[in-house]
Amino acid sequence: MARTRTTKKLAQRIDLNYFKRPTPLKRAKFWLSLLLPLLGLVWIAWRGFSGDHRVYSSGRLSRAHAVLDKECAACHVRQTGAFSARAEDNACLGCHDGPIHHASKSATPDCATCHTEHRGTINISAATNQACAECHADLKTSHPDTIYTSHISSLEDGHPEFAALRPVAGTPASDPGTIKLNHAIHMKPIRRGPNGPLVNLECGNCHRPIAVDADLTYADPKYRAAAVSYKDSEEFLPIHAETLKTPKPVSGRELMAPVKFANACAGCHSLAFDKRFDEGVPHDKPELVNAFLVRKFQQYIAAHPGEVRVQRDPNRDLTGKTLPPQVRVLTPAQWVVERTADAEELLWRKTCKQCHELTPSPKSAQRPIRAATAQGTDAQEVSAPLTELPYLAPAGITLEWMPHAKFDHDAHRGFTCVSCHPKALTSTESSDILLPGIATCKTCHAPGPGHAESRCFECHTYHDWSKRKEVTPRFTLPALRTDGR
Ligand code: HEC
Ligand code: HEC
Ligand code: HEC
Ligand code: HEC
Ligand code: HEC
Ligand code: HEC
Ligand code: HEC
Ligand code: HEC
Ligand code: HEC
Ligand code: HEC
Repeated sequence: MARTRTTKKLAQRIDLNYFKRPTPLKRAKFWLSLLLPLLGLVWIAWRGFSGDHRVYSSGRLSRAHAVLDKECAACHVRQTGAFSARAEDNACLGCHDGPIHHASKSATPDCATCHTEHRGTINISAATNQACAECHADLKTSHPDTIYTSHISSLEDGHPEFAALRPVAGTPASDPGTIKLNHAIHMKPIRRGPNGPLVNLECGNCHRPIAVDADLTYADPKYRAAAVSYKDSEEFLPIHAETLKTPKPVSGRELMAPVKFANACAGCHSLAFDKRFDEGVPHDKPELVNAFLVRKFQQYIAAHPGEVRVQRDPNRDLTGKTLPPQVRVLTPAQWVVERTADAEELLWRKTCKQCHELTPSPKSAQRPIRAATAQGTDAQEVSAPLTELPYLAPAGITLEWMPHAKFDHDAHRGFTCVSCHPKALTSTESSDILLPGIATCKTCHAPGPGHAESRCFECHTYHDWSKRKEVTPRFTLPALRTDGR
């Protein structure tokens, strides 16, 4: 049974002009295509007339400015009555200051170069690397005498090793502090005092953020209670004057407090000076230690007058046979001078020297012991050699190692100390730098997902907030002026 239907015949049945004929659906589409834009325009016009300009916006405003969503004029100043697509710097400055970066001759970019808007509810302070690279990719050209690295495009491209770790003229970077501390010895099991039990110190026994109370496991309440005569300004190195301050108040958890003898060392390191006394000398300047010793020995000899009879160490004759000890009878003043000299010999050469750099004083600063004993009745009889007090080097503690960046320990509290300071386990010299270099930061701060932020603003302040000007606000709460429209 042969079929007469061929494909050609079938094709002839189809009306080739079918698409030209109107159908209800097509009519609807046609009118809709006219109506919808019209509706849109009407809506835009209507919103515009009713004062809501969000429809003209090219995107949502940042988190900080979300309340200004309807207040286009706050940033887009109308010049000659027209809406300006540029956000004028003056409009921004009408609400808050954006102080300069560095006093420099080159023009500063518009606020909007770095603080882009209408990109959704983003962090508006998140300036792009390019915004900074505008100048920092070639700083030497605009600032030939800059002391800073000139070609920085991103953390990955051109960012130098941090100054605190950079060698200077071939010599490796070093810690200028003079307090000796052998980290390696103290991080292994160590005795608490000469005959004490073995203990394991933790970083936190000595280092705590500034706002956190010191750990007192190895403290000595007597030394903590004592006032000291040396001042912070003598102890700490000054901070670079040109540091840019962050806009927000500091939490006090960013940096670690300087280590104090009274809190972290005194529990193990005694400042004992003579077997006649249980207590140690004050932890203070040599002149005060000297005055303390003189006073203590004067009081002692007044209470124990018999001790002015002093036995010399047994001498030996040439054959090695002991001779009878020679007994000397001293005046109380002589006794005080000799005991003070012995105690100071121990302190200056051993006890204090373990942690401090002590050097003979320059001549001008020499002070004979006699001066300190002058209040004694028989000061004139002093015959012992005059002792000079040593010069104790200032501690030279660095409070901020990276003043041109903002580092925050608190933001990293989930990570162990040695993940960034591995050298603290092996360092034997105080001059060692124990700080992490840029390579350590880059393991976490890198572009792309799964990493912490790596754009400049994360680690740097841009504005010099110390030059911030107060602004008198001009805007009222939107809720208060609904009637004004
Ligand atoms: C907090 C300030 C601020 C407010 C409020 C604001 N804008 Fe903007 N707007 C900006 C900034 C910044 C730019 C970036 C362009 C420039 O200034 O050079 C911008 C750009 C624009 C542009 C140009 C297109 C673009 O993305 O570059 C339009 C259009 C615009 N805004 C519309 C609006 C409308 C409509 C409103 C009100 C609903 C509004 N803006 C509210 C800050 C603001
Ligand atoms: C009507 C007032 C007003 C205007 C105009 C204005 N801002 Fe703001 N801005 C605010 C308020 C309010 C905040 C939130 C408070 C704060 O964080 O200081 C803010 C916050 C910010 C922040 C900090 C965001 C953060 O991370 O906390 C930046 C950056 C900023 N504004 C930049 C700009 C720029 C750039 C312009 C001009 C395009 C501008 N502002 C215009 C009121 C204004
Ligand atoms: C070269 C980029 C750049 C320019 C230009 C710039 N800013 Fe900023 N701004 C930043 C960065 C980065 C931050 C975050 C770090 C900081 O606070 O310095 C910031 C922070 C701010 C803050 C927030 C402070 C806070 O409380 O967190 C305000 C407000 C601000 N800028 C206003 C302005 C104004 C107003 C202008 C224009 C006069 C301006 N900025 C120009 C980069 C810039
Ligand atoms: C208009 C040019 C310009 C732009 C844009 C600029 N800088 Fe600078 N920056 C300078 C100048 C100039 C110096 C100072 C150079 C000197 O004193 O030798 C400087 C110094 C610095 C320093 C080192 C000194 C300090 O202040 O602690 C840092 C860090 C820095 N800028 C970060 C940034 C960041 C982050 C951005 C982007 C948000 C940025 N800069 C954008 C010009 C610029
Ligand atoms: C992960 C944190 C981090 C990021 C991201 C970062 N920096 Fe730094 N930067 C630092 C630290 C820390 C220092 C050392 C500060 C010091 O020595 O006082 C530094 C130093 C600098 C210096 C001084 C350089 C010198 O010669 O000593 C400049 C300039 C600088 N950064 C610019 C930038 C710019 C521009 C960007 C973005 C392209 C950027 N930084 C990104 C942490 C960062
Ligand atoms: C017994 C107390 C003590 C302990 C425990 C201790 N430190 Fe220190 N640390 C000090 C003293 C004192 C200084 C200042 C002298 C110096 O620079 O070495 C210091 C300095 C530092 C410095 C800055 C100085 C530099 O040159 O880099 C860092 C970083 C540091 N310690 C990290 C650590 C870490 C991490 C641990 C734990 C693994 C630790 N410390 C354990 C007492 C201690
Ligand atoms: C848990 C007790 C303990 C604490 C706390 C402690 N030390 Fe020590 N320290 C010792 C002992 C024990 C020794 C002797 C170790 C040795 O010679 O093997 C010692 C030795 C030292 C030495 C000589 C290291 C060397 O290279 O021979 C110095 C310097 C020192 N400590 C400084 C400090 C300072 C500064 C502090 C406070 C910040 C401190 N110590 C806190 C127990 C302690
Ligand atoms: C176990 C280590 C240790 C011993 C031993 C020690 N000190 Fe200190 N000394 C410190 C530390 C740590 C500081 C840092 C600041 C503080 O504790 O107030 C310091 C600071 C000082 C300062 C202040 C320095 C400045 O820059 O102003 C003086 C003065 C001082 N010590 C005197 C002495 C004298 C005198 C002795 C001996 C009787 C002594 N110290 C023994 C650890 C020690
Ligand atoms: C993410 C890396 C990182 C971790 C984790 C970290 N530090 Fe630091 N630490 C730094 C940096 C960077 C500095 C330099 C900051 C500055 O002074 O500008 C520093 C400085 C220090 C200093 C010198 C004083 C100061 O604050 O400038 C001490 C002491 C210190 N750290 C101890 C610790 C201890 C203790 C821990 C663990 C509780 C710790 N650090 C964890 C990176 C880290
Ligand atoms: C183990 C991973 C890790 C390392 C290493 C690390 N960071 Fe961070 N850092 C983080 C994380 C996570 C955050 C918080 C999330 C964020 O802001 O992206 C952070 C935040 C920060 C912030 C912002 C703090 C704030 O208050 O907003 C700064 C600045 C910073 N890091 C600097 C550094 C510097 C400088 C180094 C190197 C010395 C470093 N970080 C090393 C993981 C790390």
